[in-house]
Formats: sequence, C-alpha cells, structure tokens
Amino acid sequence: MKTLNIMVIFAIFLFYSYFKTSSTTANECDFPAIFNFGDSNSDTGGLASAFPAYLFPPYGETYFHEPAGRFSDGRLIIDFIAKSFGLPYLNAYLDSLGTEFKQGANFATAASTIRLPNQIIPGGEIHAKLMSREEYFKRALYTFDIGQNDLGEGFFSNKSLQEVNQSVPDIVNSFSTNFKNIYNISGGRSFWIHNTGPIGCLPYIFANFPSAERDEAGCAKPFNEVAKYFNDELKSAVAKLRTDFPSAAIIYVDVYTVKYSLFTDPQRYGFELPLVACCGYGGSYNYSASVGCGGTITVNGTQIFVGSCGQASVRVNWDGIHYTEAANKFIFDKISTGAFSDPPIPLRNACFTSP
Ligand SMILES: *[C@@H]1O[C@H](CO)[C@@H](O)[C@H](O)[C@H]1NC(C)=O
Ligand SMILES: *[C@@H]1O[C@H](CO)[C@@H](O)[C@H](O)[C@H]1NC(C)=O
Ligand SMILES: *[C@@H]1O[C@H](CO)[C@@H](O)[C@H](O)[C@H]1NC(C)=O
Ligand SMILES: *[C@@H]1O[C@H](CO)[C@@H](O)[C@H](O)[C@H]1NC(C)=O
Ligand SMILES: *[C@@H]1O[C@H](CO)[C@@H](O)[C@H](O)[C@H]1NC(C)=O
Repeated sequence: MKTLNIMVIFAIFLFYSYFKTSSTTANECDFPAIFNFGDSNSDTGGLASAFPAYLFPPYGETYFHEPAGRFSDGRLIIDFIAKSFGLPYLNAYLDSLGTEFKQGANFATAASTIRLPNQIIPGGEIHAKLMSREEYFKRALYTFDIGQNDLGEGFFSNKSLQEVNQSVPDIVNSFSTNFKNIYNISGGRSFWIHNTGPIGCLPYIFANFPSAERDEAGCAKPFNEVAKYFNDELKSAVAKLRTDFPSAAIIYVDVYTVKYSLFTDPQRYGFELPLVACCGYGGSYNYSASVGCGGTITVNGTQIFVGSCGQASVRVNWDGIHYTEAANKFIFDKISTGAFSDPPIPLRNACFTSP
C-alpha cells in the first residue's frame, strides 16, 4: 500500500515536471497548484465524501463512469481549469483518505454559501501532512465559484424576492472578507473569480416557482435579476479588491453571460432542450423536488428509476440544478480565452495584473 502511494505520488510528480517543461512558455503562468472555493458547481467530492450515499449512477456516466463526487454526468469547469494547466483533477479536501493535495485542493462542497465560517483555509494538521509545500500556496491559482446557494437559500426560505435582493450587499461583503483572509493567510497572488450563473434558467426554480414571469429564453426573469444584481455588486467589490491589493492578479469572470447564451442560442452551440433536465422525473422540465437523478419513484405501483436521457452530450442541464459536462466544457472554452474577464486576461495568464 505504502509503495503504491509513493509510486502514485512519484508518477504525479513526473507528470507535473513533464508539463512544466513542455507546455509552459514565457508568457504563461506556472501554477503549481489550484485551490478552489465553491459550491456544488465546482464540488469534486466534498459532499460525497461526507455523505457517500448521496450520489448514485448515472452521476458520472460520461467521463468517470461512476459518480466521482461531482454533481454532473462528468467533469466540471474546475476540472477543465486544472487540466488546462496539466494539473490533476482536484481532490476534495474533505476526502482526505487516500488522496493528496500537493498540487492543490478543492474546498467546494455542494450547498456551500459564501457566508462560510472563517476557517475555510485548512488548519495546521492538513497543512503539515498533506498540503502543498509552503511556496506553492503563494504561487497557486485561487479559483472561486460561489453565490448560487446564497441566493437559492434565500429563495427557498420564506424570504421574498425583494428581501433576497436586499441581502446581496451583505453576501458580497462576506465574500470580500473571506477573500482578504485567504489573501492574507495563503500569500496567494492569483485569483480567478467566477460570478454566479442565471439561476432563473434552472428547472428547480421552475418547479418551485411555477408562476414566475419568464423572459424570451424561457428563464424565470425576477430570479435572474437578483443574480445580475449580485454580479454587479460582486464586480464592483472585486474592482475594489484590485485597488486594495495592486500586486495581486484579481480577475472577475462573467460566467453568467456564457451560461445564459446556452439558453438563448442552444442550437448555435450544438445543444437542445436547455431548460429540461436530462436526468430527472416529471413535468415539462423533467424535474421533481420529490425524486432526484439516480433515485427511484413508485408510480401507480410500478417502480421507476430516474436515469439519464442518454444524450447528455447535447444537453445543458443534467439534474435540474447542475450543468452537463458538455455545457461545462463549452463554458470553460469561452471563459478561458479572457473574453469574459475583467480585466480581459486569459486563464493561462491569470498570474498577471494587466492584459
Ligand atoms: C414559511 O412560513 C410558513 C407559514 O408562516 C411556515 O409554516 C413554514 O414553515 C415557513 N418555511 C420556512 C422554510 O421557514
Ligand atoms: C435589487 O436591488 C437593487 C438595488 O437596490 C435594485 O436596483 C434592483 O432593481 C433590485 N432588483 C430586484 C429584482 O428587486
Ligand atoms: C494577516 O495574518 C496575520 C497572521 O498570519 C495576522 O497577524 C494579521 O492580523 C492578518 N491581517 C489581516 C488584515 O487579517
Ligand atoms: C396512473 O394512474 C392514473 C389513473 O389510472 C392515470 O390517470 C395516470 O396517467 C397514471 N400515471 C402514469 C404515470 O402512468
Ligand atoms: C427525463 O428523465 C428520464 C429519466 O427519469 C429520461 O429517461 C428522459 O429521457 C428524460 N427526458 C428528457 C426529455 O430528457
């Protein structure tokens, strides 16, 4: 067992050295590690390691061929980010048995909110035994993809839309506070911050708020308006952080616009039925709050398994809440160019403070 572990670590090291020498050109950043902070949109096993019975097949069917801790049929945007730097797919930090964190870790867990406890940076014990070398913390890329659940939590409580909207400045303030703590504790200087997506285009919103006003794309307009307000506030907060910490590269990435294009122009990008879950059950959007993807439901005495539509490669929504691997790849391809970044810096140059 020990030998195997050492061999695996050695193999990863060789892999890393190979990429370091072969694919890094003068103008590209050489991130030895990635640390991600987020919710289920970038969870690579955090929730599943805490609650192993939560995700069942067909989760993971497209790429990992098993659930793999991800709320998708395959890889997430964060996986494509790691891959683009020749880094291994991130391990969830909760999943600390048999994993190692030399080249980064994922602090995302499904249902995480920005208003996390302050101790989201690991304590000494992880630091010492499992984590990256200290200088890796300084040279790592820090990615953030969070906010959807802060809004979702408000929508699903008894708060009115206006009340959720009014809580946005407070949520964004908490983000800035967490950012400053991470900046200070980690010594990191490269930050890649995704805004939140069009939550009003997701079947779980339609199922719970059937009378919400729709826009041209069929999305629930008031919910997207709150998301857009969140994004405006986040963008200003990030601009402020950039002024406060001029030596750091702090990049705001407009994921919203890219995701939204999948709902307005699906055919153009090779997708269909963007508002319908591939793996779900019931109603116009193939989604029901009472049974999820991978579950079973008894209808008229017959058990029905909630499986995959078998066409995840042309679908946008996987399980009513999360995107398919195909959609995640599309989003990654668009955002990595820098065309949706402020300042307009591509992902491979995300260690630089100006384009
Ligand atoms: C919302 O309010 C209703 C009635 O006031 C109450 O029964 C229900 O439990 C509340 N739900 C939540 C999530 O607080
Ligand atoms: C949210 O609040 C902002 C600032 O007060 C306001 O401009 C915006 O119209 C509000 N949006 C919604 C959907 O209530
Ligand atoms: C930064 O961290 C150091 C300890 O590493 C601490 O003493 C200091 O108060 C922190 N500063 C801020 C602004 O949080
Ligand atoms: C279940 O049975 C009812 C009554 O016979 C029928 O109207 C309904 O369509 C059935 N549902 C399904 C999913 O077969
Ligand atoms: C809805 O989900 C079921 C699995 O319960 C799947 O077989 C079906 O193809 C899905 N429908 C659509 C339109 O994707």
